[in-house]
Amino acid sequence: MDDTALVIFMPSGKRGRVAVGTPVLTAARQLGVDLDSVCGGRGICSKCQVSPGLGDFPKHGLTVTENALSDVNAVERRYDEKRGLKPGRRLGCQATIQGDVVIDVPPESQVHKQVVRKAAATREITMDPATRLYYVEVREPDMDEPTGDLQRLIEALARDWEISDLSASPWLLSKLQTSLRKGDWKVTVAVWQDHRSDTPKLIDIWPGYFEGRLYGLAIDLGSTTIAAHLCDLRNGTVAASAGLMNPQIRFGEDLMSRVSYAMMNPGGASEMTGAVHEAVDRLARDLAEEAGIPTGQIVEAVVVCNPVMHHLLLGIDPVELGQAPFALATSDAVRTRSSDFGLTAINPDAQGYLLPCIAGHVGADCAAVALSEEPYKSDDLVLICDVGTNAEILLGTSEKVLACSSPTGPAFEGAQISSGQRAAPGAIERVEIDPTTKQPRFRVIGCDLWSDEDGFDVATAATGITGICGSGIIEAVAEMRMAGLMDAKGLIGSAEATGTARNIPDGRTHAYVLHDGTADGGPLITVTQSDIRAIQLAKSALYAGARLLMDELQTDTVDRVVLAGAFGAHISPKHAMVLGMIPDCPLDKITSAGNAAGTGARIALCDISARARIETEVKRIEKVETAIEPRFQEHFVAANAIPHATAPFAELGKVVTLPDPHFNTGPAGESGRRRRRRA
Ligand code: FES
Repeated sequence: MDDTALVIFMPSGKRGRVAVGTPVLTAARQLGVDLDSVCGGRGICSKCQVSPGLGDFPKHGLTVTENALSDVNAVERRYDEKRGLKPGRRLGCQATIQGDVVIDVPPESQVHKQVVRKAAATREITMDPATRLYYVEVREPDMDEPTGDLQRLIEALARDWEISDLSASPWLLSKLQTSLRKGDWKVTVAVWQDHRSDTPKLIDIWPGYFEGRLYGLAIDLGSTTIAAHLCDLRNGTVAASAGLMNPQIRFGEDLMSRVSYAMMNPGGASEMTGAVHEAVDRLARDLAEEAGIPTGQIVEAVVVCNPVMHHLLLGIDPVELGQAPFALATSDAVRTRSSDFGLTAINPDAQGYLLPCIAGHVGADCAAVALSEEPYKSDDLVLICDVGTNAEILLGTSEKVLACSSPTGPAFEGAQISSGQRAAPGAIERVEIDPTTKQPRFRVIGCDLWSDEDGFDVATAATGITGICGSGIIEAVAEMRMAGLMDAKGLIGSAEATGTARNIPDGRTHAYVLHDGTADGGPLITVTQSDIRAIQLAKSALYAGARLLMDELQTDTVDRVVLAGAFGAHISPKHAMVLGMIPDCPLDKITSAGNAAGTGARIALCDISARARIETEVKRIEKVETAIEPRFQEHFVAANAIPHATAPFAELGKVVTLPDPHFNTGPAGESGRRRRRRA
């Protein structure tokens, strides 16, 4: 009789013959099948669970009998009694192969499992984190063989897991001896080893088998806001998310004003470093509390940010970034201890990773967007705009990718807008204006009804109607233009010129009343002339940046547009096009990627091969410098009109009509220009 058996692992389909009596875990390793194990086959961790299939498998030409695997043994019985095994499940390290068999490896038993990202575009993230748990049994000390506890632990890790040359910090060494003795020489260790596979690091140690999980932080450090996800390093799920305002705002709203602050004030850079360190550390504590986990189980942090934030986070004076040639201290990815990012509340030996920068003004956040959206794999020409206080713009295909950064300012985030506010319940996020009656209807965050629908007042009673967020102001401005309430230059017309009393005088200009809640003690929410101006500047900067990249590629059109960024996720493509924020593109070719930079950070946290990938790709991405490029100014000026003066949205005629009245902007019917001249 043949003393081998055919084993087929699903879903990988990997198959081969193994000697009868081979444990399933060993067979999986021999055939290169992804089957997890933390305890090294000791029947403790249950990570190796499999389900044997019984019966006919015509596809494989196989019939699997009841005794294809060995009987359930004492270890499996004990595990089942203590912790419970799902029906049909076996421990792969205990069950041995006795005959031809088809074995299903459930997702939770796969080491490099693929998890589906929850976002507009479904994406799979491969799980291959740098820090993993290993269970080992260590030799006891011996008078005749004077080796240290660490050396015997390293010996056990090399024997069971082929991990050698381990380094350990003094903090870890201080826990080592008690953990080994408390666990009766059986311990679980967390070991970090990343894609550059240099010396692995011992991150933590627990007596016996550690039942807990390891977590990592994915941090998107923006100029205005800091967002962080706490991710389970076993399956990539987000255990908690939180965000807060970047406290550096008090030193300057935008990047250049923070660089100026560092230049003008001795110690200013370290003051800003201290502020951001305190903020990320607080976020880490808050996230651990929300998820109900000990902070010590957070063993990694990945950060993405723009170059100025990058330098300030690392305690580097950003002065060189304020002047040509905008030299970075380093453009490579930074691998360091998380405490160098200011994260002191988490595991003391937690490791940190900062994605590489593309160039002086195009940072790790842009690299993270590239990692998430992969323009370098695209067959068609894709324009990716990550819209925030600074816009990161990528344009390209699998052949060539260009990148630039454009200073849009905080208007798109609702800042510097008279009734602007952050996207929060009560903020107007959608706007429509009837072109005939000039009456608006809107929706606020936290309520699905439009303002002219029954029940709106009751539904919004708790939050109130408090202001306009970024997507709301975009829609309001575009709708005002389509309803003929302002002209192509962005001048708001008077009540007489536009035929609506909603256009009210506002100093020497006019404002459009979107909502008047003053009778009930609420705010008067208007769109003012200076709001329009702020949006014009922001959208012109975004358009000019995109256009500059298109010039470089000698193209006037793009095949598709991806809008990213927390705010980009909510922009209506039609309104963005009416405003002339982005170059022409069919509406159905404009998609939203949500917070792509944050997603890129999560991918890099969960998968060390993604870190290797982006480190290679950023070297291929060509950077275009907007600050010194004269054509940027030309494009910026041309982009000021609504819609764009020379390239109005071609599809506009199909979806809207654009009245172009001759406005009188002064209360007495005089044009603003004439009045200014007279003054
Ligand atoms: S490998 Fe740990 S229980 Fe099987």
